[in-house]
Amino acid sequence: MNSQDGFISVGRVAEFDDSHGNPIVVNGRELALFFHHDQWSAIDAICPHRGGPLSAGWCEQGTVACPLHGWRFDLLTGQCLEREDKKVAVHTVRLVGENIQVRLNIQPIQ
Ligand code: FES
Repeated sequence: MNSQDGFISVGRVAEFDDSHGNPIVVNGRELALFFHHDQWSAIDAICPHRGGPLSAGWCEQGTVACPLHGWRFDLLTGQCLEREDKKVAVHTVRLVGENIQVRLNIQPIQ
């Protein structure tokens, strides 16, 4: 469901795994939703290296590592730690009661 401020409900907290990445689709865009450092984060799900599924990556110290070749991406900025010229889009997540809502922030993907 869309709200007037651009947030889209993606499901209830209980529907998601807070210990692993969750693949979600928002307006046709594939995202990876994580619960890390006591907050939900959503980034683009497709690794800019060779398309690895970041929703299957693992989180550590504020980053998610791609399961294919290990490139790490900062969950707050989307910046790749291995390649300064690569990043993924980071989207805004909020909780409304028990519902998780996401607003897409479409940034140029390099
Ligand atoms: S596809 Fe993600 S690091 Fe290679």
